[in-house]
Amino acid sequence: MKVAFLDLHAVNARHDAEIRAAMAACLDSGWYVLGRQVQAFEAEFGAYCGSRRALGVGNGLDALTLSLRALDIGPGDEVIVPGHTFIATWLAVTAVGADPVPVDVCEGSGNIDPSLIEAAITPRTRAIMPVHLYGQPADMPAILGIARRHGLAVVEDAAQAHGAMLAGQVCGSFGDLAGFSFYPGKNLGALGDGGAVVCADELYAERIERLRNYGSRVRYQHEELGCNSRLDELQAAILRVKLAHLNADNQRRRDIAARYVAGLSELDRLGLPEVIPGAQPVWHLFVVRSSERDALQAYLAEQGIQTLIHYPTPPHRQPAYRGAAASAARLPVSERLASSVLSLPMGPHLDDAQVDWVVNVIHQFFERRRS
Ligand SMILES: Cc1ncc(COP(=O)(O)O)c(C=O)c1O
Repeated sequence: MKVAFLDLHAVNARHDAEIRAAMAACLDSGWYVLGRQVQAFEAEFGAYCGSRRALGVGNGLDALTLSLRALDIGPGDEVIVPGHTFIATWLAVTAVGADPVPVDVCEGSGNIDPSLIEAAITPRTRAIMPVHLYGQPADMPAILGIARRHGLAVVEDAAQAHGAMLAGQVCGSFGDLAGFSFYPGKNLGALGDGGAVVCADELYAERIERLRNYGSRVRYQHEELGCNSRLDELQAAILRVKLAHLNADNQRRRDIAARYVAGLSELDRLGLPEVIPGAQPVWHLFVVRSSERDALQAYLAEQGIQTLIHYPTPPHRQPAYRGAAASAARLPVSERLASSVLSLPMGPHLDDAQVDWVVNVIHQFFERRRS
């Protein structure tokens, strides 16, 4: 049996007629940038996130970068980021001219370890940027408490966490601002690039509206140095269709995760994702840990099961961040995760038989190793 890591055609084919109708309506409208579809999506996604405002932008990286710009964070400033994340978290900080300061993560969740944040705060620190990695809520009460004590802003990287909740509150509504990505493979994915900033403060929202549109809210009046980073009408129309199915898709991911956990929990040589109390993850990825990761991945591939690694090289080891390599000594867990994490197939394209097959083959792998 072949098991694809993700099958975007199958994911979107479930909404084929609705998506085609939305695209046709957009074509017929004659209005393709910042129009009624974007406006409606912003209202719907803001409400979904339990936040006052959502602003459509070009992609998730821009959502984070513009959030930092709205806070006037720039050269000379530091922003605390996790050592284990997709590089975009760090790139947003670098893009505004500030310095990313990495803090190590919790091994079980992959999220920033709040107990290590205070030691990384300096007089230059302006913000903390936690990531809800893999769709697992970061420990927001602890992070917000630290931010409050030190007068720091909080920007959530919610690129992988559409609809994730902690203590009944939706991720993206905890911090001052949050950045979401609608890259096609995300839980809420467009048919191309897209992103959104979510915030409660009207002044930040106005700032993002200007920054994404050449620094202008009134045509040909440019109040500041903005950029061009807008969500297309077409993508907004598609996202509106898919937002209506997001809760059902997230529930399917939860069911798959529960099936993996039930099937794999007795394997003592395999680390399973740990969920913090009160959290309802949305399982963008289901990531296990093993010191035999490469052999396990090869064995699964031989049996037709596709897996991926998120992420094989941490940002501080990337050539792009040559100067950050020295921070490796302070990031032992991030270092270890890069060589032990393995993402199993996950998404609404999977049926129970496929999930059971993955569980079976993983058991086979460890049995063969033992004998
Ligand atoms: C954690 C994280 N942050 C930021 C991004 C950036 O999003 P985008 O690819 O839409 O720019 C992504 C996704 O790619 C991500 O996974």
